[in-house]
Amino acid sequence: MKTLFLLLYFAVTISPSHSALIDHHIRNKIEEFNIRPVKTLPINPNRPLIELGHQLFEEKKLSGNRTISCKTCHNPDTGTSDGLPLSQTENKKGILRRNAPALYNAGLASHNFMFWDGRIYYDPKTKIFTTPEELLNGENPKASEITSVLTSALAAQALFPLVSRNEMMGNAGENEIADAPDTMRAWDKIIERLKNENPTGVDTESYAALFSKAYPEISPDNINIGHVGEAIAAFEREEFQSTGSPFQKYLRGDNGAMTREQKEGFAVFMGRGHCIQCHTGGELGEKNMFASVASPQWGEAPLVLDKGRGEITGDEKRNFFFLVPSLLNINLTGPYMHNGAYQTLREVIDHYDYVSESLNNFVITPELQKKIPVKVAVAGSQVILDDIWLSSQSGLFPELKNRLRLNDQEKDYLEIFLKEALTDPKWDR
Ligand code: HEC
Ligand code: HEC
Repeated sequence: MKTLFLLLYFAVTISPSHSALIDHHIRNKIEEFNIRPVKTLPINPNRPLIELGHQLFEEKKLSGNRTISCKTCHNPDTGTSDGLPLSQTENKKGILRRNAPALYNAGLASHNFMFWDGRIYYDPKTKIFTTPEELLNGENPKASEITSVLTSALAAQALFPLVSRNEMMGNAGENEIADAPDTMRAWDKIIERLKNENPTGVDTESYAALFSKAYPEISPDNINIGHVGEAIAAFEREEFQSTGSPFQKYLRGDNGAMTREQKEGFAVFMGRGHCIQCHTGGELGEKNMFASVASPQWGEAPLVLDKGRGEITGDEKRNFFFLVPSLLNINLTGPYMHNGAYQTLREVIDHYDYVSESLNNFVITPELQKKIPVKVAVAGSQVILDDIWLSSQSGLFPELKNRLRLNDQEKDYLEIFLKEALTDPKWDR
């Protein structure tokens, strides 16, 4: 009789305290992995700069053929991306080789690499840029009139879609920007165009006026493409902040912010899933490290392999490495991976659960092909598949060496965590 009472006693007291136990467990792990909430940035007092950046972000006149703006591929209605596995070219006839990343919290100071391969880098200590344009690079850049204006990797990034033929510039013979003999002169042509025109949809004010309000101390003759990049970045930094998800609230101390299932999923994320090894910090991916997770390679036929970081560094050991992305608002930003290979988060989870199997069995489904206006192909030869798989086995990331063997319950929890806990209601439209 006594034992029965004792058992009853435990049954009653243990079940309500289960939630306290899981909070205790998770909060210990949060300390262990030093996960801190994303901070809201101070409001930029230069409002004209933000307004100029906003206008430019949505301005089709920035593209050679006046057909496409940053927003076309980074639209808040599709998770600040375009909802496509691979973005379409400016003339909509072809595809780019990569998936358009989301821009949430793009302006955080930790984001010193831009693009999936990190080909733009800004060192905040030395203020040195590394970009695809030599003239911006190094300690004494030749184009110092531009670099002296730029204060972040984000600002430098904004210069490059403008001069990429497929993204925004168009082809030679189509417009004056695409006809320029080199990148510097293409940027000059963009500035010339802006100086002579009004923002789209605005009759009353010229770009010249907007620039002089945003940069009152700069004479109009000295406005250059750096001022365009800096204004766009100022807008992106302020606009695309995301700090309101249940996960962020939980990190800020509110135990009630996440449901029990979301917490179980977070525990898998930090525990048996080993996801936290790469998806670190309050963004679950602070965009400052590269890794290979052996995601499938596919794209326009005939396929050219995308070796990611390896192409930039020339180091074969970095082949198929990509920037570890943030997972905040991940439910809004599919398809997934640098090339949109996976359409759902469950597919991503299954990939991690058994990497080699998922890589070897990847196929282009009719639904996937439907979203792409050109013929596509998959890297399928065993030699290449082995190469891709080996890149994830380099020893840098022992967590990918073994199958995770997550059970369905664990996968469900993980999916719930990714889908629900990481979604900021502010951006869920
Ligand atoms: C045609 C579609 C398209 C247009 C237009 C476009 N982008 Fe992108 N954007 C992409 C793709 C695709 C990538 C990834 C490319 C890569 O990694 O090589 C990208 C990458 C980025 C990144 C890097 C994000 C990260 O986390 O690394 C930023 C920031 C960005 N774009 C901002 C802009 C801005 C600002 C403009 C306008 C000046 C713009 N984009 C125009 C498709 C586009
Ligand atoms: C070895 C480092 C590493 C580990 C471990 C890891 N990831 Fe990733 N994750 C990455 C990299 C790198 C990418 C981009 C890969 C690519 O595009 O090919 C990525 C991409 C993703 C994406 C797609 C993001 C997007 O914007 O398209 C999701 C979702 C994701 N990971 C979730 C997880 C989960 C869940 C786990 C644990 C089961 C996990 N990751 C474990 C490095 C890692």
